[in-house]
Amino acid sequence: MAKRVPFVCGNWKMHHGVEATRKQVRALVEGLARVQGKVEVAVAPVATTLFAACEAARGSGLKIAAQNVHWAEKGAFTGEWSAAHLVELGVSHAICGHSERRAMFGDDDVTVPKRVRAALDAGLIPIACVGETLAEREGNQTAVVVARQTGAILELIKADEVERLVLAYEPVWAIGTGKNATPTQAQEVHAQIRALLAKRYGAKAEAVRLQYGGSVKPDNAAELMREHDVDGALVGGAALEAASLLAIAEGGMQRA
Ligand code: PGA
Repeated sequence: MAKRVPFVCGNWKMHHGVEATRKQVRALVEGLARVQGKVEVAVAPVATTLFAACEAARGSGLKIAAQNVHWAEKGAFTGEWSAAHLVELGVSHAICGHSERRAMFGDDDVTVPKRVRAALDAGLIPIACVGETLAEREGNQTAVVVARQTGAILELIKADEVERLVLAYEPVWAIGTGKNATPTQAQEVHAQIRALLAKRYGAKAEAVRLQYGGSVKPDNAAELMREHDVDGALVGGAALEAASLLAIAEGGMQRA
């Protein structure tokens, strides 16, 4: 079986200006030795601070991610940025289709796959998000929704590039609510996603990293990442302070 290096990414959403970003990135860089070589760590700052973040992370193992990326190379898309713009800064990853983008900014199963495609084409690692709402879970629609969202993304991904993809399962009801999915609930959906990958790509599915996201904290990270198919975490609130994100990353070191 392919060995999957755990991958923990902080998502700072619309928090931290330039000074706070520099301070937290420097602290992450300093603390990274604790997990280096064992857990990959990235952080996704606000777009206006990406330049400063890349500068502060340069030469370290810390990866800088964008929270979004447009699918076009350039053009009349006010308020958006292309994968090439991110590459130019030194950004290496791009979150695509976060549930907040899907719920508030019109991202869907047409635009999210296009964002993922553009990221891959430019040499970025996409972190593609899927996950059901509370109503969908209560209506027993979790498997259907996750299969639909994942299927739409995989439709545009070829076998020889799937290993670069990161998929984040983020149940919407667990995001920012303090109510994380149990390790068993997370593993159940992750195993389903792994099976969808295996159906399309065979053995290559084993190399794809599946992050869990939704109220991950230092005190639940290890038990979540102990599950066979939970290969990391996408972390919002508990990633704002470097010490907390590093503690979560350390949780990944305990993966069997
Ligand atoms: P949370 O957010 O950790 O604050 O629940 C996770 C996310 O939105 O990626």
